[in-house]
Amino acid sequence: MRTAVYPGSFDPITLGHVDVLRRAAGVFDRVVVAVLVNPRKAPVAEAEGRAAAIRETIAETLPELAGRIDVTTFDGLTVDACRALGARHVVRGLRAVSDFEAELQMAHMNHRLAPEIDTVFFMTALEYGYLSSSLVKEIARFGGDVSAMVPPGVAARLRASGPETPRL
Ligand code: PNS
Repeated sequence: MRTAVYPGSFDPITLGHVDVLRRAAGVFDRVVVAVLVNPRKAPVAEAEGRAAAIRETIAETLPELAGRIDVTTFDGLTVDACRALGARHVVRGLRAVSDFEAELQMAHMNHRLAPEIDTVFFMTALEYGYLSSSLVKEIARFGGDVSAMVPPGVAARLRASGPETPRL
């Protein structure tokens, strides 16, 4: 069975992440979404809350794939999470050329740390090329409408928490 880990901050999950997840599940037998416990910027929720939003999103928008997608949280190195989960592939999304440099560096570094692990990139659909979690957070913070950018449950929760400190 081919298992891939899709690591990230998912702060919060966007429709771009959902698109990459759908593509990854088309290639791998099992995909484990691994939510980083301590992302750099103030998160919209603790890792468990961000993971819960992803589980809800999968149930709502990818129900046919739900049996092959797991969601977990992790602290530490992505390659250690891969080894613990029995995965030999890391999945990452690429929106534009601007993502490439940092992603290439990370892929090489992960491969240096764990030569048995390869990174596989999926290009997000063009319509999500402009999306980022940090922009979603900023728009939500100023009371803007993010319903075209994130799954419905996430949009509802960000709206309900009110602007200034959007929370899941
Ligand atoms: O969604 P993000 O914030 O772009 O995800 C970045 C992530 C979580 C993939 C990256 O920061 C990461 O792998 N962090 C875990 C620590 C680690 O393994 N660092 C070395 C990467 S070369």
